[in-house]
Amino acid sequence: MDEISFRIFRFDPSRDAEARYQLYRIRPEPGLTVLSALVNLREEQDGSLAFRASCRSGICGSDAMLINGRARLACKTQVAEAAGDGTVTLEPLRGFPVLKDLVVDQSDFWEKLVRVKPWLIPGPEPAPERERLMRLPAQQFDELSRASDCIFCACCYAECPMEGRHRAYLGPAALVKAYRFEADPRDAGSAERRGALDHPDGVWRCHHVFRCTEACPKEIDAAWAIQQLQRRLAARHLRLKGDA
Ligand code: FES
Repeated sequence: MDEISFRIFRFDPSRDAEARYQLYRIRPEPGLTVLSALVNLREEQDGSLAFRASCRSGICGSDAMLINGRARLACKTQVAEAAGDGTVTLEPLRGFPVLKDLVVDQSDFWEKLVRVKPWLIPGPEPAPERERLMRLPAQQFDELSRASDCIFCACCYAECPMEGRHRAYLGPAALVKAYRFEADPRDAGSAERRGALDHPDGVWRCHHVFRCTEACPKEIDAAWAIQQLQRRLAARHLRLKGDA
C-alpha cells in the first residue's frame, strides 16, 4: 500500500458547533505505529491536531483511543495492522466528554477509582513481626499481581456496555483495582470499600459481557476480577443470612 488514509475525529467544543472527520494521507513505513503516524501528522501536516501520549511504549496509558471503533493504545497498534482496507479511523474514547479532537476528560473515571480506595488499608500490626508479609500461594499472588498491571488507559471503561448505559457504574478499571486490594491478605479495608462495591452501581452492575477483558492492552482479566468480588460479597451475604 503506497498511501493510507487517516480519518480523524475533529472537535473543539470552544469553537465548533459540531464534530467532523478530517482526512489525511500518510505513506506507511514498516513498524509505524498509529501514535508515530499521529506525531508525524501533527509535525508535518496539521499542528492543530490534539491527542494525548507520553511513554510511547504501553506504560502510561495516556494514548488510548478508538482505532477503527475499538479502544486500543495508539502506541501499541501497528498502522499496517489497523489499515485493513487502506483507512484508519481514529476517534476519542467513547463514554467521555471530548476536550479536543482525540483528548477526553477522564475526571469521572478518576473519581470512580478513588471511590473504591485503591490503596492498602492495613489491619493491626502483626506482632512480633515488623514487616507485613503477603504470604500467598504462587497462583494467588500471580492473580493479584496481574491486577496490579493496570495502566489506567480506560480502554475497558470505553468498551463496557454497562458503563454506556449506567453512567454511575464504577466500571471495570476501578473494580480491578478494588480486587487488587481486597485479595491482598495484608489489607483490612473491606468495610470501607463495601459501600461502593456492594451497590447496584458497584460489582452488581457487571453483566459479564467480557468486553473489558478483551479490550485490556495489559491482558488483565477484568471480568474475572469482578466475579471474584461478587463471590466474596455474595458469600458475606449468605453468612449474614445464616447468622440471622
Ligand atoms: S503513549 Fe504511553 S501507553 Fe501509549
